[in-house]
Amino acid sequence: MSAGVAPAGAAPRLEASGGSPVPSTPAGCLVTFEGIDGAGKSSHIGRLAERWQARGLQVERTREPGGTPLAEALRELVLQQPMDALTEALLIFAARRDHLCQRIEPALATGAVVLCDRFTDASFAYQGAGRGFDLDLLSTLERWVQQGPAGLRQPDLTIWFDLDPAIAARRLAAARAPDRFEQQDEAFFHRVRAGYAARCAAEPARFLRIDAGQSLDQVGADLDAALAARGW
Ligand code: TMP
Repeated sequence: MSAGVAPAGAAPRLEASGGSPVPSTPAGCLVTFEGIDGAGKSSHIGRLAERWQARGLQVERTREPGGTPLAEALRELVLQQPMDALTEALLIFAARRDHLCQRIEPALATGAVVLCDRFTDASFAYQGAGRGFDLDLLSTLERWVQQGPAGLRQPDLTIWFDLDPAIAARRLAAARAPDRFEQQDEAFFHRVRAGYAARCAAEPARFLRIDAGQSLDQVGADLDAALAARGW
């Protein structure tokens, strides 16, 4: 294990409803944000970062693939270069390993709340459900990459911005030049959405599903209410 990887057990855990008390602040927690392209995660991540910073929390905002110089370089390749599904999965998990070792684990060890735009749920949704890549192999990569001395690093909370792919396609049509994922057809994003739904159903205590088909303000209000209900 790299010296850069801190013990993975320090973060307070969210509990399923009816379980132990939920931590009263997200300090030391990994919060991830997921959804199909065009779901509008970014502005909500920024708002949450500002709000928690104003409360005196140390906030580390980052993204995947990316978040370190090496992982950002891998991101450019993954988003722009043609490659087969195994190469894509290996590069994404290589970027994740560097990100965890160099940035996420050190930040969590200092008590920061880490807000990460996408994480491993995206690999299961995009590579697994979207591309049809072997889920067992993804689970193996997950175990290799996210294993620390105190166990497997997983998000404490995952906020899933759920959106109809037809709405996402209309939003993306007005956006910048599409990358390799954004160029996929609507059927691909239906599969990705189903992939996220399966992850959410398998771990309902970790996931917070937000209806991202509403106005920006309403999505923000729903997110605030859901976090407040958890004491955050
Ligand atoms: P972004 O534009 O939201 O930053 O995401 C970059 C793209 O990378 C997005 O289309 C989803 C894709 N992606 C995967 O396919 N697998 C992954 O594990 C991650 C983190 C992202």
